Amino acid sequence: MARIVAGIGSSHVPAIGAALDNNKTEEPYWKRVFSGFEKSQAWMRETKPDVAIIVYNDHASAFSVDLIPTFALGCAAEFPPADEGWGPRPVPVVKGHPALASHIAQSLILDEFDLTICNKMEVDHGMTVPMNLLFGKVDKSSHWPCPVIPLAVNVVMYPPPTGHRCYMLGKAIRKAVESYPEDLKVVIFGTGGLSHQISGPRAGLINAKWDKAFLDNLSKAPQKLAKIPHVDYMREAGAEGIEMVMWLIMRGALDDKVDEVYRFYTVPASNTAVGHIILENRRRAKSTAGRKASGRKTSGRKSKPAAAKHKRAAARATPTTVRGR
Ligand SMILES: [Fe+2]
Repeated sequence: MARIVAGIGSSHVPAIGAALDNNKTEEPYWKRVFSGFEKSQAWMRETKPDVAIIVYNDHASAFSVDLIPTFALGCAAEFPPADEGWGPRPVPVVKGHPALASHIAQSLILDEFDLTICNKMEVDHGMTVPMNLLFGKVDKSSHWPCPVIPLAVNVVMYPPPTGHRCYMLGKAIRKAVESYPEDLKVVIFGTGGLSHQISGPRAGLINAKWDKAFLDNLSKAPQKLAKIPHVDYMREAGAEGIEMVMWLIMRGALDDKVDEVYRFYTVPASNTAVGHIILENRRRAKSTAGRKASGRKTSGRKSKPAAAKHKRAAARATPTTVRGR
């Protein structure tokens, strides 16, 4: 059966994509951001997912204000990068996984989540920037390392879905994935945020204290986050901080108790707080330990649980970058 092995939270700041596309990653301002994802890219190379489900929001690229679905699942075979006003980003077309996506759509709708099915959809920085941050820079003529199922969420026009609805949707996604017969290793991304506001009197708002508490609870007590009302996101994290509800879809798709294997936080990038977290399902480690206990031979290298422990210790040893509020 297919299984979700880990969840990734990542901001999707458009300026990060522009910095990458214009070869500015070594400039001190941007190096601070990109260096925070080096361990994550190593983790992703090691994890080698078969499919990634990426929860993101469209920024008037695929949908306009004429039509805004609350939850829209990409079931197409491919998703071209959208032209966001200065031409499409120089990244490969994103290949989908229509069979798994259609299975998820059926399962979610029968579970009473009213989903919009997208058989043709362009994807913008909301999805491709986190892909770059986790998969690295990929030449336009090359290909992304795994197929992707996009899940677009309305967080641009009131009313967006509640955090609780997002959290429960994550649980339904997990059920859908686990009822798919093919043995696939799946990761799920929650993108957007963290605190930021791009216009109005509070433009530039960043609330590092709120963001840190959000990451702490995401890891250890996600049920608390599922109770936060929209107005609290607006008040504490800025108008665009509401994007953080998308992280709850990712979190709902994981075990109640997870292993936080990496976290990174830095401000600002453009005028946004950049947050990132990797959470692994514990049974992943358990199944590895089970194989070892059942007599499976290991080489002279570190066993996987030991390597994972070492990796987590190394990640925790890396100071998180926080520069005020
Ligand atoms: Fe966004």
